[in-house]
Amino acid sequence: MTTPSSTTATPPTSQDVGIGRLLEEVQQAVSPPTRPHVVEFRNVSKTYNPGQANSFTAIRDVNFVVADLPNKGEFVCVLGPSGCGKSTILRLIAGLEPQHPATTGTVHVFGKPVEGPGADRGMVFQDYTSFDHRSVLGNIAFGLECQGVARNERNELARHWIEQVGLDVAKDSEKYPHELSGGMRQRVAIARTLILQPRIILMDEPFGALDPQTRMNMQDLLIRLWRAVEATVFFVTHSIEEAVFLGDRVYIMSTGPGRVEKELEVEPADRPALEMARVPRFQETVYYIRDLIAQLEAQANKHAK
Ligand SMILES: Nc1ncnc2c1ncn2[C@@H]1O[C@H](COP(=O)(O)OP(=O)(O)OP(=O)(O)O)[C@@H](O)[C@H]1O
Ligand SMILES: [Mg+2]
Repeated sequence: MTTPSSTTATPPTSQDVGIGRLLEEVQQAVSPPTRPHVVEFRNVSKTYNPGQANSFTAIRDVNFVVADLPNKGEFVCVLGPSGCGKSTILRLIAGLEPQHPATTGTVHVFGKPVEGPGADRGMVFQDYTSFDHRSVLGNIAFGLECQGVARNERNELARHWIEQVGLDVAKDSEKYPHELSGGMRQRVAIARTLILQPRIILMDEPFGALDPQTRMNMQDLLIRLWRAVEATVFFVTHSIEEAVFLGDRVYIMSTGPGRVEKELEVEPADRPALEMARVPRFQETVYYIRDLIAQLEAQANKHAK
């Protein structure tokens, strides 16, 4: 099990729940940290359309910190009801407008304020974002092409990544997105991002549209790839099972406006997703989080009345 980082304030006491540990409080940064944090949110709020009649505060006073662990990136999952600001948080890390910049507070990545998109961060979206007019190979090589990498070199790397994500170089390289299944398209999207070796991989419900079996296969694939690339992953999902399976750390958000309410540390999965789902300690964590989210939603509804 991961231990709270030495670069954060006094490690909060915690409660064991199955394969997870609920921290008493969401960990906060102390400054100066011994190593720059991977991601740090300090009192971050985002109000869309400020000053206008349709002004809306999506997140308020969001605070959390993901410490930089030597030789290992963390897998961070973000759970929360629809509209609580999960995508807003992800896109603030990515530096994408109109979420970026935050209305108040600071978003730091590797110790520096986020000023816009950068090569250190790669994003995989829920909807399939490949270019329709490019083949699988062309899509995966696209980022390297933008960086000016020579054709032979980028195509060779792209073929390597086609294999890494479980596609077939001979059969699939020249296919176009409309010839691929949803699962295959998400494999392309993952390869397209990982080929650029980002230190932070941002994933916004990437498997939300897949059938349960394909989804579990993709979860297993993602864990394998992530262990090899040593990047930090921020993974937004609606599925508690998915978060507990994939995450080293799970943030639970509440709505109205969105905040990070709870933080759990979770033991790494030691078997494939399908088998993990049958482990009682795994299910204990899932049911606990389910109840916790129900409680948070009941509280939010009470305050909204
Ligand atoms: N560009 C925007 N302009 C105005 N309001 C926005 C904008 N983007 C998001 N919002 C609002 O901010 C809130 C949070 O949106 P966000 O997309 O971050 O939620 P989410 O947690 O990702 O939801 P879901 O789970 O449905 O994807 C929502 O109420 C949404 O309507
Ligand atoms: Mg979203």
